[in-house]
Amino acid sequence: MSDQPNKQPGDPDTTGHSWDGIEEFNNPLPRWWVWLFYLTIIWGIGYTIAYPAWPLVNRATAGILGYSTRAEVTEQIAEAEAANAAINGRLASVELTAIAGDPELNGYAVSAGAAVFRTWCAQCHGSGAAGARGYPNLLDDDWLWGGDIAAIHATVSHGIRTEEDPEAHYSEMPAFGRDGLLERAQIEQVVNYVMSLSGDPRDADLVQQGGEVFAQNCLSCHGEGGLGDRSQGAPNLADAIWLYGGEYDALIETVSNARFGVMPAWGDRLTEAQIRAVSAYVHQLGGGE
Ligand code: HEC
Ligand code: HEC
Repeated sequence: MSDQPNKQPGDPDTTGHSWDGIEEFNNPLPRWWVWLFYLTIIWGIGYTIAYPAWPLVNRATAGILGYSTRAEVTEQIAEAEAANAAINGRLASVELTAIAGDPELNGYAVSAGAAVFRTWCAQCHGSGAAGARGYPNLLDDDWLWGGDIAAIHATVSHGIRTEEDPEAHYSEMPAFGRDGLLERAQIEQVVNYVMSLSGDPRDADLVQQGGEVFAQNCLSCHGEGGLGDRSQGAPNLADAIWLYGGEYDALIETVSNARFGVMPAWGDRLTEAQIRAVSAYVHQLGGGE
C-alpha cells in the first residue's frame, strides 16, 4: 500500500492523517488570511499599549493615550451641568410658587426632580412615591406637615425629627404605655375610639370611654375629631389612611410605644435647585396643594 493510496494526479499532498481511509489534504492557508491574522495580533498588542488593558493589583495599566471612561463621564457631567447652569440658577432663585406657572421651568424642575427622587428618596418613599409602612405616601392629599410647595420645600430642606438640622420639623408623641401614662385598658379604649373615627364599627362602650381618654390625652395634638394638626405633624386619624397601620394590634403598638418617624435633612446634601426640583416633582404627583 502506498503512502497516499487515493491520490489523483493534481491533488495536493496530504497531511498523512487518515481516518478509515479518508485523508486530509495539506492545503496551506491563503496568504492574505495569514497576514490578516498577524495584523490582528499586532493590533491587539498595540491596543493594550495605547488603552487601559492589563489588570494589575488595584487598577489596570493606564495606556499611553491616557484615555479613561471615568474621565469621559466626568467631562460629560460637567458639560451637562454647564448647559443647565442658567435654568438651575433661575429655579433656585424664583419665588417657589412661581415655578408651577412657568411651563419651561416647571417641566425642567419636574423631570430633574424625578431623577433626584429616584436617587435620594425612593429607598424610603418607594420608586412610585407610594410609601410603605412608616414612610408616608406622597401621592395622596393626606399630609403630615403640609402639601403646598413651600411646606414640601421646608420638609425636604430641613427633614423631620433629625438631629442633623436644628430647623427640622419636630414633635414627639408620648409613649403612653411604655412611659406609664395610660393603663392598658385605657389604651384599648382609645384605640377603639380611634378605629371608630374612620367608620370602623366598634363596641359602643369602649368607644365612649375611649373618647374621654382621647379628649384628655390626644386632642391637644390630633385635634377635634382626630382630624390632625399639621403644625405638629400629627396625622389625621379619621381618614382611614395609616402611616403605621390601622389594624387593632398596630394601633395598640403606636399608642403604647409611639413611633418617632425620622426623615433626613437634604439642605446640606443637595443643591437648592435640586431641592426645589424634587419639591416640584412631589408637589405635582397628585396631592399637591
Ligand atoms: C431615610 C428614609 C427617608 C428618605 C431617604 C426620605 N424620606 Fe421623606 N420622610 C421619611 C419619613 C419617615 C417621613 C415621615 C416622618 C413623620 O412621621 O413625620 C417622611 C416625610 C416626608 C415628607 C412629608 C410628608 C407629609 O405628609 O407631610 C415629604 C414631603 C418627604 N418626606 C419628601 C422626601 C423627599 C423629596 C426625599 C428625597 C429628597 C425624602 N423624603 C427622602 C423618610 C425618608
Ligand atoms: C404631642 C403630640 C401628640 C399627642 C399628645 C398624641 N399624638 Fe399621636 N401622633 C403624634 C405625631 C407627631 C404622630 C406621627 C408620629 C410619627 O410619624 O412618628 C402621631 C401618630 C399617631 C398615630 C399613628 C397614625 C398613623 O397614621 O399610623 C396614632 C394612631 C396616634 N398618633 C394616636 C394617638 C392617640 C390615641 C393619642 C392619645 C392617647 C395620641 N396619639 C397622642 C402626636 C401626638
